[in-house]
Amino acid sequence: MLTPDDNRLLTQVGPGTPGGELLRRYWMPVCPVAELTPEKPKKRVHMLGEDLVLFRDGKGQIGLLPENCAHRHVSLYFGFVEEDGIRCPYHGWKYAASGECIEQPFEPKNSPLKSEACLRSYPVQQLAGILFAYLGPLPAPLLPRWETVASKLGTRKITVLPKHNCNWLQAQENSVDPVHTFYLHAHMLMEQRKNDDQFKSSVAYFHRPIEGIDFELCREATWTGIRKIREYGGAKPEREVGHPAIFPNILIAPQEKGALVTHWRVPMDDEHTYIMWLEFSPTVDGSTVEQADSDIPVNYLPHPLGADGEYDLTDFPQQDLMAWETQGKLFNRSRELLGTSDRGIVMWRNLLRQQIRAVQEGKEPDGVIRDPAQNGQIDLSIEKHRQARFEREMATAK
Ligand code: FES
Ligand SMILES: [Fe+2]
Repeated sequence: MLTPDDNRLLTQVGPGTPGGELLRRYWMPVCPVAELTPEKPKKRVHMLGEDLVLFRDGKGQIGLLPENCAHRHVSLYFGFVEEDGIRCPYHGWKYAASGECIEQPFEPKNSPLKSEACLRSYPVQQLAGILFAYLGPLPAPLLPRWETVASKLGTRKITVLPKHNCNWLQAQENSVDPVHTFYLHAHMLMEQRKNDDQFKSSVAYFHRPIEGIDFELCREATWTGIRKIREYGGAKPEREVGHPAIFPNILIAPQEKGALVTHWRVPMDDEHTYIMWLEFSPTVDGSTVEQADSDIPVNYLPHPLGADGEYDLTDFPQQDLMAWETQGKLFNRSRELLGTSDRGIVMWRNLLRQQIRAVQEGKEPDGVIRDPAQNGQIDLSIEKHRQARFEREMATAK
């Protein structure tokens, strides 16, 4: 349970809020690059409580600027994308991707007003078919090259989930909640398809009794996070290797055949979250694949809430979405009752609180990469990390 003040501290994302200042230290995905087309080279973006406009000008420069024109605050989104910038639809002031105001058609030629009209532009980088933005203080750190975004030894696909009507932390807390899979996913599917034996056997993996859970705080060179581990009983007992939630808003979920899915939970504002998955499937023989960004398939999932108030709960993402949205747009954690199975959530909140404080004290938070030598490609090989950690612990114990 959290006090209302603590809840606000951990969930607010806007500029100037302690949580918002922390989250601004990290690159966040904005959208698949495929969304900027020659026919529509612009997009409205709502991120970390800010209204922005994203565009690609005729020269190919990508700009991410505040949505509202410096003149009289009309939305630039409805303006004209030109060779060298975006022109406001109201009186034609034009802005380059750098944010510089380069034209004010009805003002005197050498008016100082032009330099006053500069907008802040946010750095944008493209990787794995995704545009990432950085909204924090400059200089920007490096865009992390997770193996899922940087490796050439496999193929990728992108899934964009519907806008979630809830705070980002509700989604991220789920990443350190290992027991929810039993009822929310497996049991729910079993109940829906009671008479379908073939289907039931495909869900059986998640329907095994969970007999133990464990959490590990990981402090790797390039990321901090929590690895959750489940111990299954039943006919096929297993202790999972464990997969990590990466601070502040990423989950790495292993799939069959060595595939890894990176989930980003991007706060739009305190009550809305943008979620994107990038699935990376390694080649069987370890061979290199040339997959251009433009060849990465992008799939969009619809929102599962019907006009009748019923959610379509026939698959995992819809089930998770229902759970997070029905906690409330901004879950009031002063009314929760945490149990022992929630200790991963307590660990995550402690980590978040600690990193917010670090930024308040002028320090760099965990997982911000500035050394290119560390960012060639960040290995997420889960088994290897576990082994490396074990070896470090053994060395310290000696
Ligand atoms: S409001 Fe943009 S040019 Fe006037
Ligand atoms: Fe889930």
